[in-house]
Amino acid sequence: KNNRTPFVAGNWKMNGDRSLVTTFSASLDSHAVSNVDIVLCPPAVYLPLFSSANFSLGGQDLSAQEPGAHTGDVSGEMLKDVGCSYVIVGHSERREDHGESNSDVAKKASKALACGLTPIICIGEPLAVREAGEVEAFLSEQLKALVEHLSVDDLSKSVIAYEPIWAIGTGKTASPEQAQDVHKFIREFFANEDKTLAEGLRILYGGSVKPDNAKTLFAQADVDGGLIGGASLKVEDFISICQAAN
Ligand code: G3P
Repeated sequence: KNNRTPFVAGNWKMNGDRSLVTTFSASLDSHAVSNVDIVLCPPAVYLPLFSSANFSLGGQDLSAQEPGAHTGDVSGEMLKDVGCSYVIVGHSERREDHGESNSDVAKKASKALACGLTPIICIGEPLAVREAGEVEAFLSEQLKALVEHLSVDDLSKSVIAYEPIWAIGTGKTASPEQAQDVHKFIREFFANEDKTLAEGLRILYGGSVKPDNAKTLFAQADVDGGLIGGASLKVEDFISICQAAN
């Protein structure tokens, strides 16, 4: 796949505790998966408890503001300071729970890059949009905001995650064909900006990825790995999904 290194990120969302951190650190330490970039995104408070050469750390969100009087927010500088190299931005749960707009998301991605973090930028349509046959128009709006705020160089340092909202936490995975169709569309969208960018860009699929469906999804030509929610909380499942990406 054009020398794109497979990529698997686990998004714990607002789950986990110290004991899960211990379990993961021990298991991932003894299960190196070669040729796959692995990232774990636990809640921010647990980030400093991790340290492993076998995977990288990512935040689940960052503030687009300059450090200062913003109670409750976490900056990209702080994420970097506690060992993160990545940060998820624009997850549909944040768009929904915190009213993040397409341009808010793009600004966060830009802030992440300015802090030396790789943004994992999430896009994806709700069920009603899919049923209305308007997936591409909907995603185009999300993607347009990105190309408006980010340069080709910025985008080439980013990762995109396609997460159809109807597949998140529902056990209803997009079929490999559905995922491939959309990933291809996303890659073509970026190819219109810059061909080299599009060829190198890693596009992850997220939405009910499990050990038993990971391999077929990751085998699709334009699927470069996954963003894993529920299954990233079970260490055996997460490791087997990482292995499926190799
Ligand atoms: O960010 C990961 C995600 O939203 C998918 O969640 O639980 O369907 O794997 P899940």
